[in-house]
Amino acid sequence: MTIVAIGPSSGLQYVHITTSMADELEALELASFPTADPKELYSAAEYVLLAEEFPQGCVIGFDGEDRTQPVALGIGIRTNFDFASPQHNVKTFFDDAPTKCGDDPDGIWYYGTDIAVRSDYRRRGIGKELYDLRKQICHDLDLAGIIAGGVIPGYADHKDSMSADDYIQGVIAGELYDPTLTFQLENGFEAGCALADYLADPTVDNYAALIVWQNPDYSGSVEVVL
Ligand SMILES: CC(C)(COP(=O)(O)OP(=O)(O)OC[C@H]1O[C@@H](n2cnc3c(N)ncnc32)[C@H](O)[C@@H]1OP(=O)(O)O)[C@@H](O)C(=O)NCCC(=O)NCCS
Repeated sequence: MTIVAIGPSSGLQYVHITTSMADELEALELASFPTADPKELYSAAEYVLLAEEFPQGCVIGFDGEDRTQPVALGIGIRTNFDFASPQHNVKTFFDDAPTKCGDDPDGIWYYGTDIAVRSDYRRRGIGKELYDLRKQICHDLDLAGIIAGGVIPGYADHKDSMSADDYIQGVIAGELYDPTLTFQLENGFEAGCALADYLADPTVDNYAALIVWQNPDYSGSVEVVL
């Protein structure tokens, strides 16, 4: 198994996803999104499809040589995206894609479907390392950048007093802190509109935020309107 990178902050060993990791990745996923509907999270079978069809887009972090216990995952697929109709959810891509894992080899964007760090490994820079590895994937595959629906767990404390769009604007302005969106903005992402019914999670009324990072070295041209 080739090591893609050693985390500069964490020392984690990052490798591409393989089918043998699927069960442990499913467990990491379930533990990382405790309030989400498990039916909407990646299953072991879906991790197998990613490993078979787009392993170069999926990095898994291990602490040391032991490859049985992944502690971090950064998963994505290629897709095209219409900024004039930004409302979507992850399943949209699965329905439209030419592969079973959701990857469109002709897509110009890397769509980040999932990023998670085991809870006892958080706040050591691993999330940033995963984003840097995704940016490297965009460079290597000459993609326009990264798009994702970013979860906004902090909205749970504000949903009774403001709309999801106002909440996102508050986080962008630095007036509100969100455990996930703030982190993504610090990692070079821009945030756009609220995505309705993105992921079933009653604590945030199923909202997420559209987030985009543009690859400055992309050889093509693309217009991003947020
Ligand atoms: C979001 C998530 C991936 C971040 O992973 P992480 O490894 O903790 O990320 P990092 O360590 O790079 O950064 C997290 C915070 O720790 C801080 N940090 C990084 N290294 C640190 C260190 N050595 N000491 C103290 N703080 C540190 C970062 O500055 C950042 O601060 P912020 O909260 O003000 O933004 C992780 O919390 C997670 O898995 N959450 C559950 C799943 C999820 O929500 N995924 C995102 C879906 S869109």
